[in-house]
Order: sequence, then C-alpha cells, then structure tokens
Amino acid sequence: MENRDAELREKILSLKRRRNAVILAHNYQLDEVQDIADFVGDSLELSQQAARTDAEVIVFCGVHFMAETASILCPDKVVLLPDVHAGCPMANMITAERLRERKKELPGATVVCYINSTAETKAESDICCTSANAVKVIESLDAKEILFVPDQYLGHYISTKTDKKMFFWPGFCPTHIRIGAEHIIELKQEHSQAKVVVHPECRPEVIALADEVLSTGGMCRYASRNEVEEMIVGTEIGIIHRLKKENPGKKFIPASEQAICPNMKLITLNKILWSLEEMTPEVKVPKEICLKAKAAVDRMLGIGRADERIKPGSYPDYHGH
Ligand code: 13P
Ligand code: SF4
Repeated sequence: MENRDAELREKILSLKRRRNAVILAHNYQLDEVQDIADFVGDSLELSQQAARTDAEVIVFCGVHFMAETASILCPDKVVLLPDVHAGCPMANMITAERLRERKKELPGATVVCYINSTAETKAESDICCTSANAVKVIESLDAKEILFVPDQYLGHYISTKTDKKMFFWPGFCPTHIRIGAEHIIELKQEHSQAKVVVHPECRPEVIALADEVLSTGGMCRYASRNEVEEMIVGTEIGIIHRLKKENPGKKFIPASEQAICPNMKLITLNKILWSLEEMTPEVKVPKEICLKAKAAVDRMLGIGRADERIKPGSYPDYHGH
C-alpha cells in the first residue's frame, strides 16, 4: 500500500514538472493532498499564489469557486480542478439574478461578496473579500451601506467590527454550522488552558465563546505563537493535519468531529494524477463575466497596496484582463 502511494506521488511529481504545473491546496484538503502540494493555504493566500505563479498549469485542490478565482486571475493559464463535482454549497445559495433583484431594492448599498461565490455573483459585486481580510475590505470602502453576500454569519461577524449599516444574504456554510456553542463549552471544561480559535463562518453564539476569530491561514500563524500550547479548533477538521505537522508537541482539539466538508474531500491523489494526464477538467470563466469578476477580485487584492476608495454601486472602468 505504502509502495503504491509512493509510486503515485512520484508519477504526479514527474508529470507536474513535464506540464510546468503548480499544485495549490486548501487547508481543508486530505492529508496526502496537502503533503504533495507546492503551496497550502487559505482562500486569500491561494488567490495570491495563483496571481503570481509562473507555471502554465494550476492544479487546484480545493472547491470550484477557488479554481474559478484562479482562472479569473490568470485567464491565460490552464486551471484544473481534479473533481468537477467539488462545489461549495454556500456559493450556490445565491444567483446573479437574485442578487440583481436585491440590488434594485438597495440602490445605495455597496455590494461586498465573499470569495466563496460563483464568478457570476462576483461579476455583480463591487468588491470581494475573504475571511482573512473581510473587516479591512469593509473599512476601506467609502460607503455607509453594505450588502454582504452570501454568508450571513461572516457578515454578522463583520457588522460587530464596523459602524457601517450592513444587509445580509441568508447563506451559510453547512460544515461550520455543525459546530455548536455546547461543543465549545464542553471542551473548555476539559481543556481549561486551551485557546479557543474559530472561523468567522461559525454561528454568532460560537464566535462569542472564542479567544480569536481567524481565517484558516490566520489559525496556522496563531498556532505557531509561543504562548499557544493547546488549541480548540473551530473549523473544518482537515486543518488539524497542517497544525500538527507545523507544531509538533502542541495539542489541537477539533471543536466538532462532524465539521467535515465533503466537497473538499473529493480531491484525491488518483484524481490529481488523472487530471494531469488528461489535462481535464478545466475551469474557465466566459470572458464577459471574467472581466467584471476580475475587477472585484483585483480591488480586494489591491486593498493595502493602493488607496482606492470604492463608491457605492460603482464599477470603475476596467481595462485589464
Ligand atoms: P479560509 O481558508 O479562507 O479561511 O476559508 C474557509 C473556507 O470555508 C473555504 O471554503
Ligand atoms: Fe463551502 Fe463550507 Fe466547504 Fe468552505 S467548508 S467549501 S464554505 S461548504
């Protein structure tokens, strides 16, 4: 079995070199997929990696919206998603058409879209954000009213950090809502020294019990601090692999063993090899949608680099691609 795995890894690495490909993996991926990746990270870090890679092919080990974002940022590269069924249920809780209807009801609101959304939804939005930069993005906006889509819980968390008036879309992550306040309360009794770190996709009553509310990348950085010896981890359990690997000797306790995203687990080593052999399934966004969605993603990536203030409902002319 071990020999077969080693052989599989060898084949992937050699084909990856021949294809001039890079393998990007999200922190929730299966252990063996994380271990073969060139880069493992959160949504923001992965989109930054995609934007700057020299590789001709990106093998995206994550879910569909992540591969789509990579394709939006690098329309000339081949972006492969080794299982085309790896979608994000939250991203599918909104459609561009329903968003257009809601925008008509809120003409003065700036639309901020969580990166966990389809290219069509991004294309209808003024700017994107991820869990790592959401508060910073909202604070950068020259707008009093924000329509935040599609995650109501991330939206609610941001609203506790800003004075702006926020309207939410009723979407949510089916994996993070499995984490309950009762899980955290029970684990805190058992592990009184442990820091409680949760993802902002969790429900408000869970967030209220946390010491830190962080993206998955933020969790990895926080875990490496000297004062952190034990951590209750309120997110998808795939991240535990990386936390343990990077912090031997420290203790990481999942807030709930049920917090598994089945879509993230669809990518396997066999599928990565097949995908590189066949150069499929490729994720590509139609040009018209891509240009508009790219403007929203670029504005997010520009926050901190440029002093761009986004006005309500405005799409500045966009000439890049
Ligand atoms: P981050 O890794 O960006 O924190 O996002 C979590 C997530 O749910 C991705 O699908
Ligand atoms: Fe979507 Fe939640 Fe899975 Fe992330 S963990 S991909 S938000 S369903």
